[in-house]
Amino acid sequence: MARKKIALVGAGQIGGTMALVAAQKNLGDVVLIDIPMTQGMPKGKALDIMEGRSVINSSVDLQGSTDYAALKGADVVIVTAGFPRMPGMSRDDLLEKNCGVIKTVAEAIKEHAPDAFVIVITNPLDAMVYNMQKQSGLPANKVIGMAGVLDSARLACFVADELGVSVEDVKALVLGGHGDTMVSIYESVSVGGIPLPQLMTKEKFAELAKRTAGAGGEIVNLLGRGSAFYSPATSAIHMAEAYLLDKKNVFSCAAKLNGEYGVKGLYCGVPVVVGANGVEKIIEVKLTADEKAAFDKSVEACQKNADWVDAHT
Ligand code: LMR
Repeated sequence: MARKKIALVGAGQIGGTMALVAAQKNLGDVVLIDIPMTQGMPKGKALDIMEGRSVINSSVDLQGSTDYAALKGADVVIVTAGFPRMPGMSRDDLLEKNCGVIKTVAEAIKEHAPDAFVIVITNPLDAMVYNMQKQSGLPANKVIGMAGVLDSARLACFVADELGVSVEDVKALVLGGHGDTMVSIYESVSVGGIPLPQLMTKEKFAELAKRTAGAGGEIVNLLGRGSAFYSPATSAIHMAEAYLLDKKNVFSCAAKLNGEYGVKGLYCGVPVVVGANGVEKIIEVKLTADEKAAFDKSVEACQKNADWVDAHT
């Protein structure tokens, strides 16, 4: 059977990390693609990982390119192209700058890899994945945004730390847009199968939810230059794996709503099932009145950015 092909558009910190993790998992051949200005960087990163494959028991092929034609035949395309935020900036401050970048990448995907499953990481996430689907014309079930997996992983990390338990036993769910308005769902967190409300007060959870909403910014401030890359990279590869291996994994991600949660035609973070057909199902979870109000506010924020994209493309 032919090996799968994973194209990573953007060969920066996230792209390089994804290439390494995809190789470690033997998920398929990898091509790192970036703009000509980056010169030998995509090729250099690909060769660097190639040379270490014998010690990670990997036999996939890795290439680098500065030509979008290298997208040809990709089963999965993961897009990090664009600008990261710096300390003091919000993700929304990247809207104008990254909108044009995504348009170019979307047109290249439409031309060279129209059958691919596309995962967008570029911020502001919900608006950029909306833009990607709009510009590429790919079906909505094949275009998603990486956010909920990362936000839920961060919440699980903070819950595990607070309770002094293994993070492996914590499952968490964060919905809504990937910004300050994201909504952490108290009753959806479980610890070794035990519902979180039996282990933690709502007040303590609210503190952890607040930290989760600001977690990207916390890392931006610590790094001083650029934004998180290890956890976004592993989150995106987890999503790609669900598609490539038809795993039917359930996770939160930015998906295009078609009436679910009372929203139509907009990308926002919700739980989905991902398998060989891309987004195979959007799951509607029961929300409390407070959670529904917070989710609606988050939808409003996503809508505002999507309206901006519509007005400028
Ligand atoms: C993150 O959450 O780490 C990313 O969205 C990057 C950022 O700017 O926060």
